[in-house]
Amino acid sequence: MDVKGRVLITGGTSGLGLELVKLFLRKGFIVVTTGRRMLELPEHEGRFIFYHVDFADLSATSELFGKISKTHEFDYIIYNAGILSPPDFTTTKDGFEYTFQINFLAHFLVNEIIIRHHAPDKPLRVVAVTSMAYRVAEPDFNYFGDAGNYRAWKAYSGSKLYLVLMCRYFAGKLSGTPVRFYSYDPGIFGSELYRTQKGIFRRIYQLGVKILRHPAVSAEVLAEILTDPDLTNGAVYDVRKRIRKVSLPGTVNSEAFWTAIHALARKYLK
Ligand SMILES: NC(=O)c1ccc[n+]([C@@H]2O[C@H](COP(=O)([O-])OP(=O)(O)OC[C@H]3O[C@@H](n4cnc5c(N)ncnc54)[C@H](OP(=O)(O)O)[C@@H]3O)[C@@H](O)[C@H]2O)c1
Repeated sequence: MDVKGRVLITGGTSGLGLELVKLFLRKGFIVVTTGRRMLELPEHEGRFIFYHVDFADLSATSELFGKISKTHEFDYIIYNAGILSPPDFTTTKDGFEYTFQINFLAHFLVNEIIIRHHAPDKPLRVVAVTSMAYRVAEPDFNYFGDAGNYRAWKAYSGSKLYLVLMCRYFAGKLSGTPVRFYSYDPGIFGSELYRTQKGIFRRIYQLGVKILRHPAVSAEVLAEILTDPDLTNGAVYDVRKRIRKVSLPGTVNSEAFWTAIHALARKYLK
């Protein structure tokens, strides 16, 4: 089979990520994906490459994506890995609130590595999987170290807003190049996202999975937008391919915010 392109998908071991892996393999792509659990697809040997990584470890994440960037060139990148925030305040070994690191900071670091290695004249499309939760986020950069004010929903919605801001920021920064960024709200679908939850919420979600939209539907739409020649740079799309609004408090979408985030990530850049 002729190779149709190359795609990197973070979090390809279940849910939306796994459907994206299968979809792009069916389309004839070389697919590189990552996760903590092992994923083997021997029928696609030669076009499917899996790397083990835990985004809770930024040094290991940096090392792996440095290696991936040196070994592969991509046409498309999908920042999909994510978790629902744990019920109680939890930090990674790097000292960041868990959701902030897994959903946002690890992807920011990966993006820095990818963009540093990417030839600026070569087209590349990057999408971050956000959630409708970004619309109710109350962004507060200092919040992520603050155990006292922890609320799981605030941590999750904040992490998803930061992904949206990251895509808008890089869309602007690289606007003179053929690199495009957008965010995608995949709607609500059945997956293994409930794994970080406990008690009644976990049981309700496990039951609900059977009646929720299949992740293959959200994967199909993401792929259609990703390859749309008229893609709007920096936009947030939803599962009905509508462009959604982003309203921001003035201080967050500023250079100062990204300077602070760069400082966090810099320590892990090789
Ligand atoms: N399900 C929904 O209704 C919904 C709605 C809006 C947005 N989303 C977003 O859609 C994306 C995919 O989620 P999903 O619903 O498909 O859930 P899922 O089935 O739990 O998949 C999440 C993926 O992220 C990876 N991941 C989680 N923690 C990780 C870590 N510490 N290090 C590296 N990889 C990690 C998982 O891989 P391993 O477990 O192998 O590490 C898995 O492949 C997420 O960003 C989620 O926020 C989902």
